[in-house]
Amino acid sequence: MVLRLKVRRGQEDGRSYFQSYEVPYEEGMTLLSALQKIKEEIDPSLTFRHFCRAGICGTCTVMVNGFPKLACKEQVLSYVLFGEELVVEPLRNFKVIRDLAVDNQAVINKIKELRLWLKEASTDPRIPPEVSKRIESSADCILCSACQSYCPQVLEREYAGPLFFAKLYRFYLDPREEDKSLRAFQTVKEGQLYHCLSCNKCNLVCPKEVEPATLIRELMQLMDVGS
Ligand code: FES
Repeated sequence: MVLRLKVRRGQEDGRSYFQSYEVPYEEGMTLLSALQKIKEEIDPSLTFRHFCRAGICGTCTVMVNGFPKLACKEQVLSYVLFGEELVVEPLRNFKVIRDLAVDNQAVINKIKELRLWLKEASTDPRIPPEVSKRIESSADCILCSACQSYCPQVLEREYAGPLFFAKLYRFYLDPREEDKSLRAFQTVKEGQLYHCLSCNKCNLVCPKEVEPATLIRELMQLMDVGS
């Protein structure tokens, strides 16, 4: 059995083309292991990112037949069985460095700009169980950028994107966060939260079921945005 892939190869200057590959299927093969096989045995110039191979680090996200997916979690058996070609492309809404590797510096810069981390000013490190439950999904975000790449408002407007507000939700509710309301309001203002269309596309593609759009709607209610 053979897996057929069509991979978009590209350079920083924006030029790109598709290259087709055929990889012999091996039991349990994921898209990431297929890409590694190509790199090791067929074409060493193919460039892509990965690290943990376990759906934890969020670095291997690519577009698969138009949807953002974690390559290390994407099983390829059904594509092989149905003879479907896998079209693999770099994440949308990001600048391509080479082939499937994109530049995520803008995400890092935005996290710094919006100060999306816990300042932990409180001397009591405990979180009440009911709060812990509410922030659980937000805390599960692995920064894989699947939501950012599938959001129709990112790049179209000044909207920061679902990733940042899913993160903010956690810090807004976390009792250990110092000065949270002031910081949260500033983040909402700078990130232009009201540009969210509530289309739920980010919910659909998040591999960790963080449901950013649901958290954004809650955040809007909590902070009375748009009323
Ligand atoms: Fe870490 Fe896929 S390699 S999430």
